[in-house]
Order: sequence, then C-alpha cells, then structure tokens
Amino acid sequence: MTVALETTPIAAGREPRRLFEITPKLLETLRRGGADMSQLGIPAQPEPEDGLWDNVSVPQARALKNIWISSMREAAHDDYLRFRFKHLDDPQQKPKSLERWLDTLVQAKRDGVRPEVLNLIMPGPIGSGKTTAAAALGNEASERGLVTLLVKHATYLAWRRPDGSPDGQRAYQVRKRHVEADLLILDELAGEMDGTATEFARRETVDLIDSRLAAGRPTAYTTNLRSRGTGGNPGIVDILGERLLSRIESRAHVLKIIGEDRRKPKKDLDW
Ligand SMILES: Nc1ncnc2c1ncn2[C@@H]1O[C@H](COP(=O)(O)OP(=O)(O)OP(=O)(O)O)[C@@H](O)[C@H]1O
Ligand SMILES: [Mg+2]
Repeated sequence: MTVALETTPIAAGREPRRLFEITPKLLETLRRGGADMSQLGIPAQPEPEDGLWDNVSVPQARALKNIWISSMREAAHDDYLRFRFKHLDDPQQKPKSLERWLDTLVQAKRDGVRPEVLNLIMPGPIGSGKTTAAAALGNEASERGLVTLLVKHATYLAWRRPDGSPDGQRAYQVRKRHVEADLLILDELAGEMDGTATEFARRETVDLIDSRLAAGRPTAYTTNLRSRGTGGNPGIVDILGERLLSRIESRAHVLKIIGEDRRKPKKDLDW
C-alpha cells in the first residue's frame, strides 16, 4: 500500500504532483511516533475492542500485514509468504500444534496477559521444512492482529553491528523493533556459527531474548542444532552458552520438525 501526498490546491489542468511515497513502514513509524494520521489522508479509526487490528480493510491492519511482508522480503523469504497451516504436512510440520499456540497468543494479547508458552523451539534436520512451518505461523499471525517479524539470527546480529542496519535505520531501532514485535520468529538459531560464538553474538542474543521474556512477548526459533552437542557435533549450548540456553528453555515448548531433506533430489546427483 502506498499513499501519495499531493499538493493542494491543484491548479486547473495540472496533474497532482507526487512529493514522495509513504510506504507502510514509514506509516507505521509515523503512527508509533504519534503522527496525526488524518493529516496524511488516513481517516481516524476506532481502536478495536480486543486490541487486535485484523480486519484488512482497516489501514492499521494492512500496515501490520505489510510489516510482516517487508520482514520476509528483507530475509529474502518471499517464496514462503504463500504457506498457511493447511499447506503444512501433518504430522511432520505440526500444523495443529502451531495453530493451537497461535490461538493462545491471540487470546493472551486480547486479554492483555502473558501467554503460557513464551518460547517455541522448532528443531529439525536440514531441509525438513522448519522455515516453511515458521513462515506459515507468521503468515497467519500477521492476519490475526499480531505484529510479527521473521529474521535470521545471523542477519539480526549483522544488523546490530555499527553501520550494519538496513534502510538507514540505527542499530538501536533494529533492537527495538525486534524486542517489541508481538511475535518474533528467529530463524536458524546459531546458524552459520561454528564452534563458539563471539562475545558480541552471545551478548546480543541474550539481550534480545531476555528483553522479550521480561516483556512477556513470544518468540519462535528454528534450528538445525540440538540443545546439547552429540557425537562431536556442537549443540546450541556449545555455541551460545548456558546462559542463553536457560533463557530459551524458559517457559518453552519443543515442536520437533521431522522428515528428510526436501531439497534433496530423489536420485543422487552424480558429480
Ligand atoms: N508443506 C510443504 N509443501 C510444499 N513444499 C514444502 C513444504 N514444506 C517445505 N517445503 C519446501 O521444502 C523446501 C525446504 O523447506 P524449508 O526451507 O522450510 O526447510 P528448512 O528446514 O528451513 O531448511 P534449512 O535447514 O536449510 O533451513 C523449500 O523449498 C520449501 O518450499
Ligand atoms: Mg530454514
């Protein structure tokens, strides 16, 4: 959705001049900053009774959906926007459990209370469909009034480095966005990290998860790793440490995604 700001009054016979485009992101920023939306041509909307903007005919609900879509685009995950719970394989990708969890999150937001399960851990082998299942959760959540973001763990860390943030955002804004989202999906936890993570990665991850826990905001994690290493393969604890594991496992539920690598061709390629 874009809204064109036009100069007024318009001289007869002249096209309205587009000053600049207001993107959903800018709109959301303006709204959060307390801008008078009526000045931008957006009629005032009554606040929803249950605190959830989920009717897409309302600009706030569309802006919320667009926050999700742009987070998926930033993660180069446009392909995953088409998945809903009904597309997931049952029981491998646990669509029913995901739906039940989402119901509890929506209800908790409606009631203004903390959800019972704050951390949903989705471990599984490479290519088993973890990101797809998590994306389906986000697609549905963003249509039910939750401000939802998905970010790869490694991308979040890169964005938190000086001058690493996208679109001219500052590192503290990146943190704020990810701490404040109603639902955060942290994809590929400890992915692209061999051995022990740097002090920076540990500190940033503990800070993000701690802050979300303290505020009672739910987070879903996908990972190829197990909590503890086995047979020479490192686990989450070996890479990110005990402090981090203890936070992730706090008020957590584990949904194991099972199955073969879906990307692998049926017949081995000979090369
Ligand atoms: N239920 C499904 N129906 C159709 N295609 C699916 C389904 N689940 C997953 N896929 C496809 O299988 C492929 C692998 O899925 P996905 O990327 O979710 O796996 P992953 O477990 O996140 O992999 P990785 O460990 O590499 O991150 C993708 O191309 C995805 O589109
Ligand atoms: Mg994945």
